[in-house]
Amino acid sequence: MSEDRTFVILLGPPASGKGTQAARLREHMELPHIASGDLFRYNLKNETTLGLQAKAYMDRGELVPDDITIAMVLDRLEQPDTHQGAILDGFPRTITQAEALDRALAEQGDKVTRVLNIQVPDEVLVERVTGRRICKNCGATYHVTFNPPEEEGVCDVCGGELYQRPDDNEETVRNRIRVYREQTAPLIAYYNEKGVLEEIDGDQSIDEVTEELKAAVADL
Ligand code: AP5
Ligand code: MG
Ligand code: ZN
Repeated sequence: MSEDRTFVILLGPPASGKGTQAARLREHMELPHIASGDLFRYNLKNETTLGLQAKAYMDRGELVPDDITIAMVLDRLEQPDTHQGAILDGFPRTITQAEALDRALAEQGDKVTRVLNIQVPDEVLVERVTGRRICKNCGATYHVTFNPPEEEGVCDVCGGELYQRPDDNEETVRNRIRVYREQTAPLIAYYNEKGVLEEIDGDQSIDEVTEELKAAVADL
């Protein structure tokens, strides 16, 4: 493997815009978008053992145990489409996951290139979560107020039906935010010490956040 592989991590609380922005950065950087939450939902939809193991945790807004999560994501990173690197969304989420990722990348002569920390105030997060709608067919993300589809309930991209994630209710999102502060926020200091952290103001329009992110990876 070459030393040029680029691994960009999108860090940020639930509904900070990781998935929305990763879909745009994927085109811009020509790297695959790997989202641990999407991998779990895919497994759940296909009723795999992994999906069934993850379900109870996801429904409560708790983290799926590290061993299950690490094995799933490292397996995905073995796929040939990651030969130039990847954009990681929602992983790592604990120090244990970050250390496992560092070890796996080091084995290939690689390391985390940049971590983009998307910051958004809690009250904005709750509003974003409760209005989110997702295409059943292609996974495109909308918001009933901030990013509505042209026709209510129908995907602009593929015409698929839009649905609401079962964990996108106010009670669960408050727990997800709490879990984020306790278990994931320590990663900010972890990556800052490694000199790879960039702060991004996520409390702007979707386009403005995209511009800030593009500027933060312009030298890669
Ligand atoms: P996951 O799917 O990763 O959920 P999350 O981290 O809670 O993040 P979201 O997907 O909710 O938000 P997002 O940042 O992608 O925001 P989006 O772009 O959609 O994880 C789900 C569960 O899986 C976890 O709770 C856990 O159980 C498990 N899990 C996953 N990874 C794990 C791991 N590593 N370890 C253990 N367990 C794990 O945007 C949100 C909404 O806001 C959308 O409607 C969008 O249109 C709108 N929006 C976006 N940007 C803006 C903007 N700038 N202005 C206005 N609206 C905006
Ligand atoms: Mg997401
Ligand atoms: Zn669609």
